[in-house]
Amino acid sequence: MKTILITGAGSGLGSELAKHWANEGHHIIAVGRTKKKLESICRHIEQENKMCTIFQCDISNPEEVSCLVKKMVDNRLEIDLLVNNAGIGTFGPLESLMISDIHDVIDTNVKGTIFTTQAFLPMLKEKKGRIMNIISTAGLKGKNHETVYVASKYAVRGFTESLWKELEGTGVSATAVYMGGMNTPFWSESDHIADSTRLKSASDKAKQIIEEDMGQKEIFIDS
Ligand SMILES: NC(=O)c1ccc[n+]([C@@H]2O[C@H](COP(=O)([O-])OP(=O)(O)OC[C@H]3O[C@@H](n4cnc5c(N)ncnc54)[C@H](OP(=O)(O)O)[C@@H]3O)[C@@H](O)[C@H]2O)c1
Repeated sequence: MKTILITGAGSGLGSELAKHWANEGHHIIAVGRTKKKLESICRHIEQENKMCTIFQCDISNPEEVSCLVKKMVDNRLEIDLLVNNAGIGTFGPLESLMISDIHDVIDTNVKGTIFTTQAFLPMLKEKKGRIMNIISTAGLKGKNHETVYVASKYAVRGFTESLWKELEGTGVSATAVYMGGMNTPFWSESDHIADSTRLKSASDKAKQIIEEDMGQKEIFIDS
């Protein structure tokens, strides 16, 4: 049994990864900003007699991330796998994007991933653990009306590839996951995608990621 911390575990891909890994017998640490969403996922997992623990944390706030690590240590919880999944988007022509949304996307997708990884590295080094960064095909090629989102995902790709070098010899490895669109609440505030219900389900994508994951550096799902 491994202990797997998933950021953004309250909905979409994060919640599906949580359910599938929990079914395999792993202990899930579900992290996100909204307690109700995390509680609902954990209830589902616990009904199957599997283990789930929740921690509320805004990953874009480094103090909250430090506090999360402290609470984990206080509860004698150590992780084997950190899944940096939490992410948001802002879409449309660049001139139309709100400055506050640009900050939010970079703060969550880029800085949130960096703060969380930095804070958990000492624990991961001790456990010879792993990092999995959920990127997107937006980390592989430019896309129309996705400038800031694509920039954020290229940043996470660069961060991950640099971790490969920096973590050589430490026993910690990092995996970048690239996949296409999914039907999740990610699209609920946006009309960038005409009909998100036509996208693949997050459950299928989660299953595919888990099946393909052999600890390699990159996982490509339908990209
Ligand atoms: N949907 C797609 O088509 C698609 C395609 C490729 C890649 N992706 C990537 O897949 C990942 C998961 O997205 P999804 O589609 O599953 O969307 P989602 O359902 O909206 O899930 C994102 C989760 O992240 C959490 N979150 C957002 N900001 C946070 C913060 N500052 N701190 C902690 N948690 C935060 C949200 O919960 P709270 O608001 O409660 O915190 C939410 O549960 C993202 O990185 C996204 O970029 C999505």
